[in-house]
Amino acid sequence: MDWVQELVNLVGDKIISVDKETLTAYASDYTEDLVHLPDVVAKPTTVEEVSSILRYCNANGIPVTPRGAGTGLSGGSLPTHGGVSLSMEKFNKILDIDEANFQATVESGVINETFQQAVKERGLFYPPDPASKGSCFLGGNIAHSSGGPKALKYGTTKDYVLNLEVVMANGEIIWTGADTLKNSTGYNLTQLIIGSEGTLGVVTKIVFKLLPLPKHDLLMLAKFGSIEDACKAVPQIFINGISPSAIELMERNAVEYVTKHSGLSLDPSQQEMGIKAYLLIEVDGNDMEQLFSDCEGINEVLEANNALEVQFADTAEQKERLWKIRRTIGEMVKLHSIYKEEDTVVKRANLPALMHGVKAIGKDCGFESVCYGHAGDGNLHINILKGEMSDEHWDGPHLEEGIRKIFRLCKKLGGTISGEHGIGLVQKKYMNEVLEPIHIELMKGIKKTFDPKGILNPGKIWE
Ligand code: LAC
Ligand code: ZN
Repeated sequence: MDWVQELVNLVGDKIISVDKETLTAYASDYTEDLVHLPDVVAKPTTVEEVSSILRYCNANGIPVTPRGAGTGLSGGSLPTHGGVSLSMEKFNKILDIDEANFQATVESGVINETFQQAVKERGLFYPPDPASKGSCFLGGNIAHSSGGPKALKYGTTKDYVLNLEVVMANGEIIWTGADTLKNSTGYNLTQLIIGSEGTLGVVTKIVFKLLPLPKHDLLMLAKFGSIEDACKAVPQIFINGISPSAIELMERNAVEYVTKHSGLSLDPSQQEMGIKAYLLIEVDGNDMEQLFSDCEGINEVLEANNALEVQFADTAEQKERLWKIRRTIGEMVKLHSIYKEEDTVVKRANLPALMHGVKAIGKDCGFESVCYGHAGDGNLHINILKGEMSDEHWDGPHLEEGIRKIFRLCKKLGGTISGEHGIGLVQKKYMNEVLEPIHIELMKGIKKTFDPKGILNPGKIWE
């Protein structure tokens, strides 16, 4: 009997699919146009089923690639070694919202925005808000410690996780910590799992800490004639004593692709005005007077850095429209062309140097880049468009060298090669640009401790 049949006998044919259509649906995520078929797709409904699947695969050396909603941009959920694509989509219950303790317990396949809305109804706040929040799973957010615009003021996923239920490679079920705000009890296993991209264990339940929901927010849009001016304004806002909840950068071509493919536009006259970049800036809190005064302070900085125009979003609809334009950039650019997404992050004040360097490297290397993202925390997404480029050039050494140059520049500017998208499949060859052999050895030692047979998400993070 082959292993697929044994797995079906073990957990049932409701959980295991092998039909072509299902395998194809789980063979790709949001990363470029990559396709890697699994041998089976498993959709367990209980932690015991996850445990049985892992125990069996561990005993038989079968690769298991955990999968959230498939919105990842580094290929982390692609089953490159075949085996089992372990989808967590049935783990979609919010188990408890504990208002007395500002905590919630959820299964790992709950959609980020569904969770945000559920806690909001109780006056609570879960800040991490990736652009894909309408579809991405909280378990996937844990896999990469995802961020989003509000990470600027509130931190990323890692800052909200108190405790995790994890199924180990051998099928054992553990909790990594305690449901407490403080914990100084040995190594921090919870934080070790966060960002481990499904290579150390499978997360089934999450205990999050929550915040009180801020009562108000204000949103402003600033237009600049140069992308470097926009970047230069960003650190000045903090130097002037203001901490916005989000500062997002959008290069002009990013907005043009959104307009072209969705019809949503910011400013039809942008060509006449010579706009090259936008900053979307949000402040939030409970004291409206304070927020207005913050906006005045921000406005002064923007003007001092040559902003051509600053607009306020006056209504909830206007705010939603601006955020929609920002959040859909990734998807809309992809409708125009396949791209490689580089998730650069540098020290905030070094953003102008990063932008300048990226454009020079692009010119040298012959690629168009679309730059946007979380300028406030120095995390810039660089979409390198394939456009008319030949497949040879796209996968060739010249472009790879261009990307290496971008990452070397990130390192020089005090940064690294991923702020929130992870390493997964497509960034692993660049790890040596920022990590020494000792770092890789330490990480591989951890991997071996958690997953001695190497069945969990093989082929990810390292070559
Ligand atoms: C964003 C995703 C790509 O910020 O991280 O739009
Ligand atoms: Zn982002």
